[in-house]
Amino acid sequence: MAVLVTGGAGYIGSHMVAELLENKIETVVLDNLSTGNREAVLCDRFYEGDIKNSSDLDKVFSENEIDSVIHFAASSLVGESMSNPLKYYNNNVCGTAVLLEAMIKYDVKNLVFSSTAAVYGETDAIPITEETPVNPKSPYGETKLAIEKMIDWTARSSGINYISLRYFNACGAHKNGRIGEWRTHETHLIPLILQYSRGLRDGFKVFGNDYDTPDGTCVRDYIHVIDLVKAHTAALVYLKSGGKSEIFNLGLGNGFSVLEIIRAAEKVIGQKIKYTVSERREGDPAVLIASNEKARKMLLWECKIKDPVEIIEDAWKFYLKHPKGYN
Ligand code: UFG
Repeated sequence: MAVLVTGGAGYIGSHMVAELLENKIETVVLDNLSTGNREAVLCDRFYEGDIKNSSDLDKVFSENEIDSVIHFAASSLVGESMSNPLKYYNNNVCGTAVLLEAMIKYDVKNLVFSSTAAVYGETDAIPITEETPVNPKSPYGETKLAIEKMIDWTARSSGINYISLRYFNACGAHKNGRIGEWRTHETHLIPLILQYSRGLRDGFKVFGNDYDTPDGTCVRDYIHVIDLVKAHTAALVYLKSGGKSEIFNLGLGNGFSVLEIIRAAEKVIGQKIKYTVSERREGDPAVLIASNEKARKMLLWECKIKDPVEIIEDAWKFYLKHPKGYN
């Protein structure tokens, strides 16, 4: 039986595919390549297609024996979702509805869904547990929460079992340097620092240094993408051994400030990183740190990589091998 990875050409999806292959699990990928990269997909069974097209899903499900889906395919930029919310409702919510219909049609019972800490919005809770009230502040977070609920209602009537995983700040890259984090339109801290340091961009800015944090810059929970995808494998094992549907936070359980990340990057790259401090970015809470206790206990999973230097070393290895990103 095979696992279908939707969005398997994206940053986290491509690492998931590598992880499944390393575990000798049959893997099928569906991606429309709107933001993903074919070069990042390390498996042969690749379908270029869209979760919104039921005919694309029919082809994938009828040509393969799929018993589980790991669903990453989505639009995922907070800023873009503010200016183009309907793109997010269409791609994320409508797309997942079509996927769920296909799962029911082909009697596929296991689903792992890629959700986000953005469902919590601006919260003062430290750490954030799965019980922390949800209050998304962007169409991105809002659509991910809507999908979580849509999956839950669908699961109750269809017999699908699901795990929704709320990611904190995914970062780093595969140790092999072949795959990593690369987007045409980049907004995330670590890839931006690396691109600035390579001269690919000008004018790196730290968004605010007057937050109520030890050094005044925002604190985030940076989880290595390899630890993240291993949690998905653990979620599949959990579902296949009869575990019931659940939601889990995925984070390191520890926070680092923007300045601490800059210092870690300087260590890895061996050069000073120039920056200016600008206004706060709208919607950035001071501190977002996950409680990962539930995932550790129930999925028997834990984060192995705890040092931002190691995370950035892996990200850097990818940048050195792909100075201009994927082809
Ligand atoms: N930052 C800068 N300068 C930059 C870019 C980022 O100072 O050029 C700061 C941000 O203000 C923030 C931190 O670096 O304090 C991390 O920012 P990212 O954009 O890398 O990540 P976010 O914490 O904003 O976003 C993450 C995930 C999103 C998710 C969100 C949930 O990447 O997918 O958490 O809150 F939606």
